[in-house]
Amino acid sequence: KKIAVFASGSGSNFQAIAESIERGELNARIELVVTDKPGAFVVTRAKQFNIPVLELAPKTFASKAHYEQAIVDALQEKSIEWVVLAGYMRLIGETLLTAFPNRIVNIHPSLLPSFPGKDAIGQAIEHGVKVTGVTVHFVDAGMDTGPIIAQVAVDVAGSREETETRIHQAEHKLYTATLKQLFQ
Ligand code: GRF
Repeated sequence: KKIAVFASGSGSNFQAIAESIERGELNARIELVVTDKPGAFVVTRAKQFNIPVLELAPKTFASKAHYEQAIVDALQEKSIEWVVLAGYMRLIGETLLTAFPNRIVNIHPSLLPSFPGKDAIGQAIEHGVKVTGVTVHFVDAGMDTGPIIAQVAVDVAGSREETETRIHQAEHKLYTATLKQLFQ
């Protein structure tokens, strides 16, 4: 499968997917990384894997539709089949959803539908839950609301940093395993 990974930040999930592909575990090729944050660390990581990056700042476009159309054009140019969101901090709009129906997936650091949106790990700690987790889901027009594909539980214990580390490890494992099944 030809895939594009969208990310706004560090890109550790991008890296886990790229490494899984290199190990021959995933029937996929990352043809393009898309970021809405030019200069984000994911750009450095993508270059290490020799993967081209599309860096587009949304505010340089007349509208969200224009911004997403520029992305769709680049994805179609490369015959992308699946869009994999990995820390892409922006709601997906009509233009991308229409171009890739049921072909956009996301990972979120909570057991959805609990704690959608920003800082899900902080929300879980603040709420005092003892178990949180990770969810992979199809993307629809809502914020972290699409059909759930896979989940795994993670204990909330120790420092915030310790919980974060366990969540990120769980993400890297769950995302690669779930993509492997989806791309069979
Ligand atoms: C992950 O926790 C992901 O679930 C969330 O954003 C974070 C991205 O981390 N949507 P990274 O950029 O992949 O390291």
